[in-house]
Amino acid sequence: MPTALIILAAGQGTRMNSDLPKVLHQIAGAPLLVHAMKSGASLAPDRTVVVAGHGADQVKAAALDWDDRVQVALQTEQLGTGHAVLQARQALSGFQGDVIVLYGDTPFIAPETLEKMIAARQHHAVVVLGFQAADPGRYGRLVMTGDVLEKIVEYKDASEAERAITLCNSGVVAADAQTLFDLLDAVSNDNAAGEYYLTDVPGIARARGLTATVVTCDEAETLGIDTRAALAQAEGIFQTRARTEALDNGVTLQAPDTVIFAHDTVIGRDTVIEPNVVFGPGVTVESGARVRAFSHLEGCHISRGAIVGPYARLRPGAELAEDVRIGNFVEVKNATLATGAKVNHLSYIGDATIGAGTNVGAGTITCNYDGVMKHHTTIGERAFIGSNTMLVAPVEIGDEAMTASGSVITEDVPAGDLAVAREKQTNKTGLARRLMEKLRVIKAKGLN
Ligand code: UD1
Repeated sequence: MPTALIILAAGQGTRMNSDLPKVLHQIAGAPLLVHAMKSGASLAPDRTVVVAGHGADQVKAAALDWDDRVQVALQTEQLGTGHAVLQARQALSGFQGDVIVLYGDTPFIAPETLEKMIAARQHHAVVVLGFQAADPGRYGRLVMTGDVLEKIVEYKDASEAERAITLCNSGVVAADAQTLFDLLDAVSNDNAAGEYYLTDVPGIARARGLTATVVTCDEAETLGIDTRAALAQAEGIFQTRARTEALDNGVTLQAPDTVIFAHDTVIGRDTVIEPNVVFGPGVTVESGARVRAFSHLEGCHISRGAIVGPYARLRPGAELAEDVRIGNFVEVKNATLATGAKVNHLSYIGDATIGAGTNVGAGTITCNYDGVMKHHTTIGERAFIGSNTMLVAPVEIGDEAMTASGSVITEDVPAGDLAVAREKQTNKTGLARRLMEKLRVIKAKGLN
């Protein structure tokens, strides 16, 4: 059975106290919306419709950035969750199959939970995701008879007896697309909030002789983010899980609580991550590598046996082959380093290709930017770049070539050659001592 996702993301999120639409606040380097899209993606949906309203242009851009097949429907006025779902109807015209409604501010719904809901759909027209709430507060209450969901009652509209129910509505619903839209057509806004409630759907389904049921999940999955405090809590939950997962996968974390993961970090077994390492998005580390303390990595790939840091910065496009060494205070961006290449101290390597076994001396800089355009530096195999070399790109250094320390290299260096591009040294006999004596005399006479 084909499935489609409708992700509600039109709300402003006033309590975030932010200019940014709520669903674009990030956990582990990805917007909340992307987390919701990722949990839904486990169902391999045929279509995904994001319902945007507040900050729709930004929300649309973020959704498409993650998945360019996503459709975005506009809800110009936020008239309620039922109204929001109806805005996706046109985008889903012609679609036959199940729809699951998710929320752009609810990042932790587990794929297995959604699979359970789809499985329950075989026997019930409407399936709602519920949870036993520790503090039911203002959640919608699920009114059950056995395993039949009779209706959902919003807190504002609930009687005392209904408010005593602890089985609560997560908001996530699954139903056949046609059925869901037909039922939503019958939803009115005659309630305490004056909104078109999606939660009226099960009751209307029951009145029409259709069946509705509840699949339950852990309350933690249903955490919705509407304050900065909840965002911080969610970040903590994500990080705790990511650390546990890394440890379970055979990664050594010397101080797990100090390592920050991104939503998509991949680390192979027997890799060691030292304290205070930050992974931005898009990092893959193969097995048996070591990332030393205080390194910051994003958009890069580290191969088996490579050692990075301490205090290294790998930026997008840094591609390290096996046994590469990147040392302290080295920044690498959009650069490929072949097997065994070393850049051990205080260097900037940007827009470059470095051959196998090449050693780049301390303080070397690839001068890649002329103020307008970026240029490439190519260094061959087994080359030796002397300390404090400025490689003014575009420039090419051949295999087994050398540059003298302190050189400013503006022309290509053929393979096997030594390039010296600095002022030749002259020693002035005794001048240092004479100069010092003169300066001391000036100071003593107070003439300075
Ligand atoms: C909703 C449920 C409630 C459930 C709770 C779980 C309804 C009527 N109530 O209440 O039973 O316990 O979720 O968190 O559905 N949104 C739109 N457009 C709208 C209205 C809402 O996109 O017109 C989005 C919001 O951005 C938000 C989400 O839908 O992310 C939930 O809406 P909200 O009005 O906050 O519902 P709750 O009061 O949380």
